[in-house]
Amino acid sequence: MKEKKIELVLQVYDTFEELPEEVQRLMQKSFEIREKAYAPYSEFYVGAAIELETGEIILGNNQENAAYPSGLCAERSAIYYLGANYPDATIKRMALSVKSLKHEVTTPTPPCGACRQAIAEYEIKQKSPIEIYFMGEKGKIVRTASLANILPLIFDSSYL
Ligand code: THU
Repeated sequence: MKEKKIELVLQVYDTFEELPEEVQRLMQKSFEIREKAYAPYSEFYVGAAIELETGEIILGNNQENAAYPSGLCAERSAIYYLGANYPDATIKRMALSVKSLKHEVTTPTPPCGACRQAIAEYEIKQKSPIEIYFMGEKGKIVRTASLANILPLIFDSSYL
């Protein structure tokens, strides 16, 4: 038996102003689209802003449903819209932010496992890393240089 250690390296920004300006602008877009989320059940609003290599920006937010599992996260709403409408696009980076009507979210909130798997598919397809920045409503911002970095033991088509 051998033990395998997997290391995860993230960058943490203490303040919004510390972010590169282009990332601040993208994160600002995630704040704006987050306000339009349809989240009457959780009251947890999520915004996803995707920047393409071309400079185009694709936005998405969470869409809930009275039949709870029928709803969809912001990240997948955005990336599936992208997949449907820009099938050949290359994603440069994503900015994610959340807000709760129940409490102030100050902890950087990473994409859920299902969304990581969905983003992974596009990262593998485009053969280049997708940089992701995520945050709460306020507070620190976390950066990962790629999706693969936050999804160890990724399930991909090589297993099929
Ligand atoms: N949600 C997202 O939009 N993205 C995530 O990565 C985690 C959760 C949404 C789904 C649901 O509408 C609400 O947040 C509470 O889970």
